[in-house]
Amino acid sequence: MSDKEPSIKPWGGRFSEPTDQFVERFTASVSFDQRLYHHDINGSLAHAAMLEKVGVLTAAELADIQRGLEEIRAEILAGTFEWSVSLEDVHMNIEARLTDKIGITGKKLHTGRSRNDQVATDIRLYVRDELALICKELSRLQLGLISLAKREAKTIMPGFTHLQTAQPVTFGHHMLAWNEMLERDFSRFQDCGTRLNQCPLGAAALAGTTYPIDRHYSAELLGFDRPTENSLDSVSDRDFAIEFAAAASLLMTHLSRFSEELVLWTSAQFKFIELPDRFCTGSSIMPQKKNPDVPELVRGKVGRVNGHLVSLLTLMKSQPLAYNKDNQEDKEPIFDIIDTVKDCLKAYADMVPAITVNDAITREAAMRGFSTATDLADYLVRKGLPFRDAHEVVGKSVAYGLAENKDLSEMTLEELRTFSSDIEADVFDVLTLEGSVNARDHIGGTAPKQVLAAAERAENRLNKRS
Ligand code: ARG
Repeated sequence: MSDKEPSIKPWGGRFSEPTDQFVERFTASVSFDQRLYHHDINGSLAHAAMLEKVGVLTAAELADIQRGLEEIRAEILAGTFEWSVSLEDVHMNIEARLTDKIGITGKKLHTGRSRNDQVATDIRLYVRDELALICKELSRLQLGLISLAKREAKTIMPGFTHLQTAQPVTFGHHMLAWNEMLERDFSRFQDCGTRLNQCPLGAAALAGTTYPIDRHYSAELLGFDRPTENSLDSVSDRDFAIEFAAAASLLMTHLSRFSEELVLWTSAQFKFIELPDRFCTGSSIMPQKKNPDVPELVRGKVGRVNGHLVSLLTLMKSQPLAYNKDNQEDKEPIFDIIDTVKDCLKAYADMVPAITVNDAITREAAMRGFSTATDLADYLVRKGLPFRDAHEVVGKSVAYGLAENKDLSEMTLEELRTFSSDIEADVFDVLTLEGSVNARDHIGGTAPKQVLAAAERAENRLNKRS
């Protein structure tokens, strides 16, 4: 990046001395906002086309601007464009280059526009495109989860509350719980995308412009639903970025919870699952180690995304209307959220379908911890006992099982009947792990039949996405 001094600023007319060199670097954003070049050029093309439509630019001037901007896009893509810190940001770098290329007509592009509505447009366009990519990757992860759920619809594992064995569940059911969270994340991103899809162009610096502009036209050219309603709000609003960050934070929170389970489940103590070697790393000192680095990193990365959400909220807090330079600080958090979320989604969308489940171990784990105790209590209720009395009877049989190191299903009928004479031979239908999960046979329940039906509904929802 060049740093020529002294620099001539596009806004330099009223100044009597050059900008202090440190201040120039301190106030510049080009090092990071050059990422917006593609959307900045598209915004300028729409603005220029609108100016021509209303008679502010001639057709020949528009053609020059279009050619110049496309050449600049090609230079940037090719890496030959020279970014200059003294030109402050992506907007002025591109505009200055346009004037270099096409002469005086380049200086007409900014008619009826300000960098304030320009940047508000660019960042909306950028987030809108990235949202689409994020939603695509999220859908891919959901597909992976659903396929894993189908594959393991019958696999028994312990379900936990307080991380203590609670009741048996199916592995597929557990995966679909994650899918539900991601489904809500998806709809939050969509919702944010709908609200941000209004075009600020024409708000100019803050109050609108005196030219006979057609805001509907430029909005339409850029694929926005409509122009924004209020010029002051248009240049100062960053709600969409905050909503996006909040949706991303929730997604990352979900991924971090999921990660925590994957880390636990791959440990020697659980051994519920295996992650493919290509998603793990070794230790430089302990030869036996296979570390679940990918889930650990995803779990850790929620920190930076939450941090960016707080940055954006704090950045907007107490800002008076309308545009303030504070808003330049929105970009790095937004960009980092996008990079982080996309990387995490890619890693998980690639990894999740390749998870293998040690079903013998998950089944054995469900056998320990008296996971069918509630089923025995429900059985006694069906035999006429009030639930609290049934709870007491089962509590005693669990105490006996603990002393004898036996699961309820491993006790003889005689042993069980010492706790209640209501217990009969049919008790074993409910004490088995399969009996327990099969009995939870309602929408939202863990029965394999229900898991397969839920997976199909989830798949149908996914297929309806455009
Ligand atoms: N780089 C600036 C930003 O990101 C562009 C808008 C500058 N506007 C101004 N009035 N200084 O916010």
